[in-house]
Amino acid sequence: MTTVTVFGGTGFLGQRLVRRLAAEGTTVRIAVRHPDRARTAFGAVGSERVNVFRADVRDQGSVAAALVGADAVVNAVSAYVEMGGMTFEAVHEHGAQTVAREAAAAGVARLVLVSGIGADAKSGSAYIRARGRGERLVQEAFPGATIVRPGAMFGPGDALFGTLAHLAQLLPMLPLIGGGRVRLQPVYVEDVAEAIARVLADTGTAGLTYELAGPDVYTMRELSEIVLRITGRRRLLVPVPFAVANVQARLFELLPNPPLTTGQVDLLKADNVASGTLPGLCELGIEPKAVEKIVPTYLARPQPAG
Ligand SMILES: NC(=O)c1ccc[n+]([C@@H]2O[C@H](COP(=O)([O-])OP(=O)(O)OC[C@H]3O[C@@H](n4cnc5c(N)ncnc54)[C@H](OP(=O)(O)O)[C@@H]3O)[C@@H](O)[C@H]2O)c1
Repeated sequence: MTTVTVFGGTGFLGQRLVRRLAAEGTTVRIAVRHPDRARTAFGAVGSERVNVFRADVRDQGSVAAALVGADAVVNAVSAYVEMGGMTFEAVHEHGAQTVAREAAAAGVARLVLVSGIGADAKSGSAYIRARGRGERLVQEAFPGATIVRPGAMFGPGDALFGTLAHLAQLLPMLPLIGGGRVRLQPVYVEDVAEAIARVLADTGTAGLTYELAGPDVYTMRELSEIVLRITGRRRLLVPVPFAVANVQARLFELLPNPPLTTGQVDLLKADNVASGTLPGLCELGIEPKAVEKIVPTYLARPQPAG
């Protein structure tokens, strides 16, 4: 692939993907609403390889402009909170459909949609339902689309371990939403970026859906215990019923950067692990990195000298 447009190229995953693609000599177009953030993030990357486009997946004209002459497109746009016109439906359904339609119309050869493990068009959760419907709309508009469904992603700046560590720093206890029994299979964000790069390089992956999960399954309680162990803190783990967490999330969603959203609470109601029926990192030749190996590299607190 010589030119790849990455919608959401300044995001947690998108930044890693842009660097990965640029490093192999691909020309990358970052398509986002805030180009200034892209310039700050990628100032050091060879600017001739990384171009920035102002685009909003809800605006057909801006999507079309970002796709002219592209060989491939990756949609890594995210909306975790509904705010103003940024609804789950607008971004994950209609926005994803617009990218797919415009890519097909422009003759773009490959499309990768980043969705999530558990995406389900019939879910009772607005967020999970929109992800499932979005996948279908994209497959209809661009039949060769490849869908990648990551599990909860970890890496420096993540919303999983980073948020737990932050809460442990602020609070005398750590909340266990729904009792902390739900099971997650966290995946290293760099492994997901590598997987997408390999999908783009292999036309045999067209039309397939991949579940990208890490090597181990943990309950939320176990993940909280890991964070406490790595950060050297002792905190009481306190179960919080889903109904209470939902009310808290609704209040948090009034903040500019909510530490918890109703979409995240919904995701904690059912296990978020690979089904085992779809191909994953292994089929792409990637050995997934373990939580215990990576998370201490960015969460561990320096030990006092002596
Ligand atoms: N993080 C996880 O643990 C996780 C787990 C499973 C699946 N996923 C999925 O992985 C994908 C990437 O997630 P992430 O955590 O990397 O997201 P993120 O850090 O929140 O980044 C979102 C990106 O989307 C762009 N964006 C938002 N709204 C847009 C719009 N209307 N038009 C164009 N660009 C827009 C943002 O830039 P601007 O604000 O400048 O537009 C930003 O570059 C998402 O599909 C997410 O659902 C994430």
